Amino acid sequence: MCGINGYVGKGRDAALRALDGILKLKYRGYDSAGIVFQNGGEPVILKVVGDPVNLEQRLSSFNLESSIAIAHNRWATHGVPSEENAHPHSDCTGTIFLVHNGIIENYRELRDELIAKGHVFRSQTDTEVAVHLVEEWYVKGKTSLEFAVKNAIARLRGKWAFLIYTSDDPETLIATRFGSPLLLGIGEDGYYAASSAAPFVGRAENFILLEDGDTALLNGQVTIFDQEGRQITREAKKLDWELETAQRGGFPHFMLKEIFDQPDAISNSMAGRINPSGEIKFEELDGVDFGEVGRILIIGCGTSYFAGRQVENLFEEIAEIPAKTELASEFRYRSPVLCKNDLAIFISQSGETTDTYEALQVVKNHGVATVGIVNVMNSSIARELDRVIYQRVGLEIGVASTKAFSSQVVILMLLAFHIARSRGKKNAGEKAVDELLKIPVKIGEVLRCSEQLQKLAEKYYKHKNFFFIGRKNGFAIANEGALKLKEVSYVHAEGYGAGEMKHGPIALIDPSFVTLAIAPEDSVYRNMISNINEVRARKGRVISLATEGDGDIGKISDDVVYLPETIEELYPFLEIVALQLFAYYFAVALQYNPDQPRNLAKSVTVE
Ligand code: AGP
Repeated sequence: MCGINGYVGKGRDAALRALDGILKLKYRGYDSAGIVFQNGGEPVILKVVGDPVNLEQRLSSFNLESSIAIAHNRWATHGVPSEENAHPHSDCTGTIFLVHNGIIENYRELRDELIAKGHVFRSQTDTEVAVHLVEEWYVKGKTSLEFAVKNAIARLRGKWAFLIYTSDDPETLIATRFGSPLLLGIGEDGYYAASSAAPFVGRAENFILLEDGDTALLNGQVTIFDQEGRQITREAKKLDWELETAQRGGFPHFMLKEIFDQPDAISNSMAGRINPSGEIKFEELDGVDFGEVGRILIIGCGTSYFAGRQVENLFEEIAEIPAKTELASEFRYRSPVLCKNDLAIFISQSGETTDTYEALQVVKNHGVATVGIVNVMNSSIARELDRVIYQRVGLEIGVASTKAFSSQVVILMLLAFHIARSRGKKNAGEKAVDELLKIPVKIGEVLRCSEQLQKLAEKYYKHKNFFFIGRKNGFAIANEGALKLKEVSYVHAEGYGAGEMKHGPIALIDPSFVTLAIAPEDSVYRNMISNINEVRARKGRVISLATEGDGDIGKISDDVVYLPETIEELYPFLEIVALQLFAYYFAVALQYNPDQPRNLAKSVTVE
């Protein structure tokens, strides 16, 4: 977690550029923030607890003439969110400055060692040891900062992306990484270094991905050294994110914008993958033979995990391959029995989730073939996979994943049909593919009900306990809907298989408990009606998601949200949009900021 961004170059507004970058990285953490820049030749460190936007006002009292600045958004791991624990950290002399994304595992022993040598620590963070270690090796006029950084990082264990400069040489920024992502942005009048490419949007046309062990010197040019200290060249790539995707486009929050992005997001994920005759083609999978695949494992965390749960049954029903979805955070610590003819499908919007990354290493160590569905290009996970299917949904900034989920589900479905067809089931998913092409329009119809969902949220926002229940195709959606509500609204929301209610959870039902029942007219509709009746019999309140034209469900529900008719497997695309809108408006009714839920960060790069 944590976001870092720095700038050095001809622009004199380095502090504003560095700040702007961490505002775009708020999805990586926002419990505190800080920045360091030069003011009249002297370094100035500003830190705030809470939203990094609070730095804006603090900066306004300076005449911003610095050509170097580094900034940081924090998601606390070691030490509470406070100004003293916020980055940048500096050495004892107050001339070396450092921001960090990652975790220093051996910080306790290093801290004791450095304190014994006389270093004075001001924070409880793991990071601070790094800047004191640099200080150990840096002697003004005698050794270079680059030399000091190299020796300092040789003592570290863990993961890091560091940006470092010294006020003795405010023309040089050092960027170095191991285990945490770090990219360089190449702008017309200077260089950026950041945890992701988001800060480069509108500022740098090309970027370079640093590899593990790389150290870059940015001082009017870019010089990169690898872990062995050899000067190397890393290819610059064109940044293809459009400015528009990083902005809210008139919506009050990114979450709402991204919910409304879904018709386009799904269309982009399908584009070029279904041709006019209904043939499915994944260029990314050219040459892959699925004929021998004996089992499919789908692995991810949070929403990405639920996307896997949503589609796993289809792999069994249509492709007739045993399929199981695993939580990466559990899988990585098990001793799974893996076979050479398994296929592991990894799902990660960010491509940076540590648990998913580590689960991928486990699978690779067993020599199992890997395919991934990833949104962020060139991310750590994307680079480790045998084959990557990119989601093409643009930046997702809201911490609560919305459009990425729908896109993951659509890609997984197409993949299930593609694998089934490549194993001789020529017409697998034919009807579903036809209907999938209409789904963006039907999502548009659900989006037009946003006012109704807002009213519903405003009616129920004082309730503290919610069940989301569904069966078969509604099961994973129930869980994902509950995750959305708890993430942004901080109320107790549990996703449950509707048939499981009577095995325990129904004991909780009373008139204050609200149940969202996912009950489209599908093969388990009658069972859902029974489950709704069971809740009603205990005086629970029920909001049903049903198919347009269902004349009965209103009689057993307090409220009904009607969805356009589609085929059984595709209702989830419509249901999730309604549940996302409900969660969004619920948070707004409670006056929470849905883009920055407490205690969360978009990319979970810690254990
Ligand atoms: C979703 O709303 C969450 N913010 C979270 O569960 C997320 O899906 C999870 O951390 C996995 O992220 P990834 O897809 O980037 O790997």
